[in-house]
Amino acid sequence: MAKLAIIGGTGLTQLDGLKILRRETVSTRWGEPSAPLLVGELGDCEVVFLARHGERHEVPPHRVNYRANLQALHDLGVEQVIAVAAVGGIDAELAPGAIVIPDQLIDYTWGREHTFFDGAPEPVEHIDFTDPYCEALRLELLGVAERCGIGVVDGGVYGATQGPRLETAAEIDRMRRDGCSLVGMTGMPETALARELGLFYACCAVVANRAAGCGDAVISMDEIRRTLDSAMAVVRRLLTEFVKSNIE
Ligand code: HPA
Repeated sequence: MAKLAIIGGTGLTQLDGLKILRRETVSTRWGEPSAPLLVGELGDCEVVFLARHGERHEVPPHRVNYRANLQALHDLGVEQVIAVAAVGGIDAELAPGAIVIPDQLIDYTWGREHTFFDGAPEPVEHIDFTDPYCEALRLELLGVAERCGIGVVDGGVYGATQGPRLETAAEIDRMRRDGCSLVGMTGMPETALARELGLFYACCAVVANRAAGCGDAVISMDEIRRTLDSAMAVVRRLLTEFVKSNIE
């Protein structure tokens, strides 16, 4: 089986059930990843876990060293990445707690180190990014979810914003007109960097709140935390079942 990594986002800074065999504190030519790489076993299968925002959730989305994170996983021999990410729901049917496996994205971020092909000594390369997520991995996740009776939404357009502030209602209106169904702060450049390294990458997005202007109330961090606490239990089950099915 291809070596699998899980990148955990807000609400998933550690992976309960992961039997940690070693912690790898590594450095890459792009600097240090957000946290040590936790190499462990989930079920009986080797999995690498990386906390995107650091082990104490101290790295904000615009300061994550995405290049170091992806390079470190690649250097460890990882081939598949499932990226877990908290998002806001723009589509009316994406209520808090929904789990979405997006199939497209739009990048609204700026000023982030977004490529490994940054000029000499690297040759210039323009990756194909028509379909930003690995369709085979997406379908595998959807298949496992269906077999285990875990409700997930197939497809959606992830709009990646700069953060760390949440969006205005007008920004979300514009994103909806653009075709975005969900909004998060970490999907880019992470997804593109994974493709540049040839990693098979899919996103498991967890709706933490209705996006700005889509719900009745002011968005509260307490509510986001509560929603993520219960939704991440479902995500953990999905990941465990995914890992099990990958070795069967
Ligand atoms: N916007 C951007 N990122 C997010 C949100 C949101 O509403 N909720 C969780 N991550």
